[in-house]
Amino acid sequence: LNYPHNHMTLLYLIVCAICLLSGTGYLETRTKNGTTGCASTNNRPVTILLWHWPFGKAYPLDGDVCWHLYKIPGCNVVDHRSEFLNADIVVFHQKELASKKQKLPLNLTRPLGQRWLWMSLESPQNHGNVRQFANVFNLTMSYRRDADITVPYGELQPQDGEIDDVVTNKTSLVCWVVSNFNRRHKRSVIYRQLSAFVKITVYGRWKKAHLPAAKLLSTISRCYFYLAFENSVFKDYITEKLWRNAYLGGAIPVVLGPPPEDYKAVAPPHSFIHVNDFASMKDLGTYLQGLAADAMRYKEFFRWRREWKVKLSTDWRERLCKICTKYHCLPQRKVYTDLHAWSNV
Ligand SMILES: *[C@@H]1O[C@H](CO)[C@@H](O)[C@H](O)[C@H]1NC(C)=O
Ligand SMILES: *[C@@H]1O[C@H](CO)[C@@H](O)[C@H](O)[C@H]1NC(C)=O
Ligand SMILES: *[C@@H]1O[C@H](CO)[C@@H](O)[C@H](O)[C@H]1NC(C)=O
Ligand SMILES: *[C@@H]1O[C@H](CO)[C@@H](O)[C@H](O)[C@H]1NC(C)=O
Repeated sequence: LNYPHNHMTLLYLIVCAICLLSGTGYLETRTKNGTTGCASTNNRPVTILLWHWPFGKAYPLDGDVCWHLYKIPGCNVVDHRSEFLNADIVVFHQKELASKKQKLPLNLTRPLGQRWLWMSLESPQNHGNVRQFANVFNLTMSYRRDADITVPYGELQPQDGEIDDVVTNKTSLVCWVVSNFNRRHKRSVIYRQLSAFVKITVYGRWKKAHLPAAKLLSTISRCYFYLAFENSVFKDYITEKLWRNAYLGGAIPVVLGPPPEDYKAVAPPHSFIHVNDFASMKDLGTYLQGLAADAMRYKEFFRWRREWKVKLSTDWRERLCKICTKYHCLPQRKVYTDLHAWSNV
């Protein structure tokens, strides 16, 4: 007898029927962990051609690499340009295009249905010119949540094994690791203001206190707080400074980057402190000191570890194989008419 409710149910059924009948050749499947995946209804393998390796560093692609490394079936990732005519998707990494080390093969005619994919994991401040690539690409792959393929620097997975204890052997209040110091960066301004109120231990080339990679996490583990300050502030641009340095190091991240909503969408609940949430750096400093002095409240920032663990992603092959898991959900016809406008937010 609840009319609005019944109307909604009917609408839902109609929408579902349209989805099922639209015959696009894929089924949407909702997985147990709540993410949406797509299953193919035909078993033709997908061929992904990588036109050039990011930063010139090639990884072996022998055998069925997506299956062997990631248990992703039906995904043929190749890096031989002779496969151009067989490729469903051709992948171009932005950095080498911008530096002109590589060129788009605009002289070749794309086979019908082949899509070109633009790939970049750097922020618009660092990825170089993209204005020249209007009307070229059909798909994007980046850390952005609204890219066609999202490849974040890290993500959460359900915790199933042992829960590692919170590291409690803390000797520094706030730590920061910075190599590329630029006083005009927003992060440098915030650092200067905050350091007037709390002691910040700084590592990295800037302070001539180089921290070898092997010592990074153990050093951060002895800090109550770690400044996970991004080098530039852009939508969804959240890097290994949060995912690896802070979360795996076991210090509470104090983050500077995109707005709190972007962090809340991907990071564990009650796991970070966002600079924007404080009216002044004096307030932030006072808050950090209070938290470090209160073991109960401090530990609450690590409760998420009982349910979640962090998975880092660093291998380009994993990113390329991921295209296949999304292949049947990708937009069939799409052109990035203004890649500059899309990417520069
Ligand atoms: C097309 O351009 C690519 C990239 O610049 C080059 O490697 C290739 O030899 C060219 N092919 C033809 C048929 O001109
Ligand atoms: C969710 O499950 C799917 C399929 O089981 C898997 O591919 C995906 O990586 C999982 N995502 C997370 C966040 O665990
Ligand atoms: C705590 O850290 C200090 C170095 O700061 C180290 O010497 C000591 O062994 C550590 N203790 C534990 C229990 O890990
Ligand atoms: C891909 O982009 C090209 C260049 O704009 C366009 O001609 C082609 O129709 C697009 N293909 C698909 C499948 O969207």
